[in-house]
Amino acid sequence: MTKKPIILGIESSCDETAASIISENEQGIPIVLSNVVSSQENVHKEFGGVVPELAARSHIEKIDWIVQKAIDDSGKKIEEIDAVASTAGPGLIVCLSVGLSFAKSFASTLNIPFVAVNHLEGHALSPKLNSSLNFPYLLLLISGGHSQFLSVLGLGKYKRLGTTIDDALGEAFDKTAKILGIEFPGGPQIEILAKKGNSNRYNLPKPIFNKGGCNLSFAGLKTSILKISKSIETEQDKFDLAASFQKTIEEILYKKTTIAFSKFEKENIVEKKIFVVAGGVAANRNIRSMLTNLCNEKKFKSIFPPIEFCGDNAAMIALVGLEKYKLKELNNFDHPAKPRWQLDENASYLKGAGVKF
Ligand code: KG4
Ligand code: ZN
Repeated sequence: MTKKPIILGIESSCDETAASIISENEQGIPIVLSNVVSSQENVHKEFGGVVPELAARSHIEKIDWIVQKAIDDSGKKIEEIDAVASTAGPGLIVCLSVGLSFAKSFASTLNIPFVAVNHLEGHALSPKLNSSLNFPYLLLLISGGHSQFLSVLGLGKYKRLGTTIDDALGEAFDKTAKILGIEFPGGPQIEILAKKGNSNRYNLPKPIFNKGGCNLSFAGLKTSILKISKSIETEQDKFDLAASFQKTIEEILYKKTTIAFSKFEKENIVEKKIFVVAGGVAANRNIRSMLTNLCNEKKFKSIFPPIEFCGDNAAMIALVGLEKYKLKELNNFDHPAKPRWQLDENASYLKGAGVKF
């Protein structure tokens, strides 16, 4: 039996401090040995969003014990770790720098390789954790910072089919929640309130619904919700607005995912069509069931990674590290933190990011 690599992953790109140890089994399936995530919700909730300096300070305070706990939980010894992978971007530079510096020092002290990981690549490969899944597949990544459709063709091979031209979907949920007086991050609360409301009560806009291919836009929704919120008087009005927002998001995703399916099918001749939904918003049950129905209709197999691998975590970062380590795609210690880092280098930047309609 050959010794399988053991990789430490570190994530600190935004408001989660995370560390994980992974390896792989005899069949080459990546196995998560530990997965420790410490969220900073309590640090930021009174501010209605992530405050970069507070986030960075919190990462600095926690990173030592989070990494130690990940090693302890894994049952492995520090000397058994073969390489360290850390998110190097995209994200908040003050936050990225904490995990990245820690990872470089750790690798340097133990004299083991270091891998700089693109956070989006972690999300893109996350359905492979503890699971066997072949390329290619279509990915919808919906989180607090990103909303994109990507063809995932192989390690390092991604093609962006569509992206948000303004707010990310999680951001739209959080901003709507803030307008309704719910603490950050309000996305999960909106889902709960929506269940008590009438989703047909308010007619909300669907920006770029009939143009822009499978690109997305959510900023106009927030403006409309802000206007309507001024006339809200009762709790029921609040529930109705949350329900109308949830329904509008589902209608947008239904239409845009249908377009992404066609694009993916045109560009990839595959026997089995697979659709993966990842990122924090993938936890939304109504979105899950709507997209599952769409997949059944269009003959795609739907995959939703377990919730613990949907939101930000370090297991997905360790996974990219593992794959790159096996290919000897290692990085030097002068690798910078990259606040902006596209997965598909050929994709134009967000607007004014050059998304063309
Ligand atoms: O992937 P994630 O944990 O972190 C980022 O990379 O941003 O995603 C966090 C986002 C937040 O905006 C949060 O409100 C949203 O995911 N979210 C949800 C739900 N659970 C988390 N949005 C809607 N419904 C949910 N159930
Ligand atoms: Zn993320």
